[in-house]
Amino acid sequence: MPFKTLDDVEYAGKRIIMRADMNCSVDSETKEITDSSRIEAILPTLEDLSKSTVVLMAHQGRPGSDDFISLRPHTEILQKHGIRASFVDDIFGDEAKSSIKDLELGEVLVLQNVRYFDGELKKAPVEEVAKEPLVQELYPLFDLFVNDAFGAAHRSQASLVGFTPYLPSVAGRLMEKEIRTLTKAVGTEKHPWTLVLGGAKVEDKVKTLEKLLKTGRVDHALLGGLVATALLVSSGEIDEKYSKPISGFDSIRDSARMLLEEYADSIVLPIDAAVERDGSRVDCSFDEMNEDPFYDIGTRTIQAFKEIVEGSAVVFANGPMGLFEKEPFALGTEKILRAIATVDGVTVVGGGHLGAMAREMKLENKVSHISTGGGSTINFLTGKKLEVVQALEKAAERMEKK
Ligand code: 3PG
Repeated sequence: MPFKTLDDVEYAGKRIIMRADMNCSVDSETKEITDSSRIEAILPTLEDLSKSTVVLMAHQGRPGSDDFISLRPHTEILQKHGIRASFVDDIFGDEAKSSIKDLELGEVLVLQNVRYFDGELKKAPVEEVAKEPLVQELYPLFDLFVNDAFGAAHRSQASLVGFTPYLPSVAGRLMEKEIRTLTKAVGTEKHPWTLVLGGAKVEDKVKTLEKLLKTGRVDHALLGGLVATALLVSSGEIDEKYSKPISGFDSIRDSARMLLEEYADSIVLPIDAAVERDGSRVDCSFDEMNEDPFYDIGTRTIQAFKEIVEGSAVVFANGPMGLFEKEPFALGTEKILRAIATVDGVTVVGGGHLGAMAREMKLENKVSHISTGGGSTINFLTGKKLEVVQALEKAAERMEKK
């Protein structure tokens, strides 16, 4: 590993500030966490740190999104797993500092959602985000920074990289495991190499798709979810009425059109749709969509995608094919996951939602790896060093020099 891990430092008895990715799926109405696997994934690190004091920073959702909620429920889940965790509704103010000072060995204090602080939303080089008060107020209270937020490792934000110039900084157990496993999976030269890309966060995904196609590694890019909708609208395949997910993002349309032109041989778009009509799933051609909500890939697309997946040697999948939260529209995602599970090769399923679904379908032993990363995993595949990894590497150099 090019960075330091917990094996390289003394952590027992130390005051540790840890960044995790506990960004979970949340029910948009009840606001309850529907899948806690990202919380469970950091338990090995917390167990190793059970003789230290640990302050945990994490984000949940983005401002304005349905899942932008407090980290109190996350703390309760940690407690259910036997972690002596408490929560403070503050990030770096007096209340947080006083709770940090009162913390005893073996205890974990969860700070409020770091994205409640505007300065955390800034994405900038390490030196710049390190000036944010979140970092400046907190770093003097700690001996060590542990980064276990693999899911957010492609983000250069204050809580993720800002502590590294000030504190000895190491990767947690999950970060270490993800990087090790993905490095091995990416190392394969086998083909056909298939990407299955769905879900939301369209702007991010179109950009990463472009980077990934440029590597020349991808034989087939099967697109579903809102990413597919964006490309279908941009190419005029479906009505402008479906452009809501990309409204205001004109650059997405330009990128989408460019991608469809340049990578016509690799990009595979849906050929039909499943819409919601009178409360039911109706599979139809694009001409018959009738402006009804487009919630999943249609049955002909499912069949076409399945055949490509089954003939692949390598499959990386990220993001659901449709609105899987509504049962009839989980069909596309389920069928594609089942097809991935039959592949005798390298298969990596990533992203909060898709990973959760793969676990629910008990596919853990049928795919090579279920990654906690969505965007971070796809960014990893582009070959670019993830921002958090770069920061940890620099920190390792500093630690060597001391
Ligand atoms: C994710 O879910 O991919 C990570 O938690 C990062 O979230 P973000 O895309 O909102 O930065």
